[in-house]
Amino acid sequence: MSETHSSTGPYPALRLDERLRDTGLFLSQAVRTFKATGSVVPSSAALARAMAEQIRARPVPGQPLRILEVGAGTGAITRGLAEAMLPGDTADLVESNREFADHLSELLTTDPDLARIAGSATVHAKLVGEMGTDRSYDVIVSGLPFANFDAEDVEEILEYYFRVLEPGGHLSFYGYLYTKEVKAVIARREDYLRQARTSWVVQDWIDRYGIRSEKVFANIPPAFVHHLRKPA
Ligand SMILES: C[S@@+](CC[C@H](N)C(=O)[O-])C[C@H]1O[C@@H](n2cnc3c(N)ncnc32)[C@H](O)[C@@H]1O
Repeated sequence: MSETHSSTGPYPALRLDERLRDTGLFLSQAVRTFKATGSVVPSSAALARAMAEQIRARPVPGQPLRILEVGAGTGAITRGLAEAMLPGDTADLVESNREFADHLSELLTTDPDLARIAGSATVHAKLVGEMGTDRSYDVIVSGLPFANFDAEDVEEILEYYFRVLEPGGHLSFYGYLYTKEVKAVIARREDYLRQARTSWVVQDWIDRYGIRSEKVFANIPPAFVHHLRKPA
């Protein structure tokens, strides 16, 4: 898979087919590696729109944005970013699952929603921790399933985000509603405690830097989107 995409290809006639293929691929990968995938279906258009809020908000009109999307999967959230992006904006799309990354690279040339950013988006088939710190961003959009990770890993990832975020830049991420309540009933005690520790870390960052949170019920499962701002 290449790291840069600049060509646009012919658009397939049956776009519903493509969406169903995305969902099928997502489900098959979720069965294989649920800890990293974190969901069984791609995010909805409503969640994608909510996650792109800081791109639409564009604090300095006319100034291009450098965007980082982490955990891009099959591009469900990327579609929302693409809709909000303007000429001059650039996006690094990070996805650790090679099958998803390859699929996303292909969509950048075949899917009309994504092909419009093909010349300004780069897919990185790697873990976010391998991205390095020689880049900086105005907006970071994270689709990582924090609730499945250990608290230390989430702390490290959030610190990385705030390191590469420009002062005054924004981070948006989501979590699923009611997962703690569901886990309290069905999960093993150690998994419940692990998730409780992770959610304390996430809540601490929201308490320190959060500017807005919003519930998105039109998603499976319903989600809570959080927007954080790095102090200027
Ligand atoms: C909940 S899915 C979100 C996918 C897509 N953004 C969506 O909303 O439908 C999380 C994605 O993050 C990827 N992922 C998990 N850990 C990662 C990491 N450390 N670095 C980069 N991607 C990761 C998974 O492979 C998966 O595609």
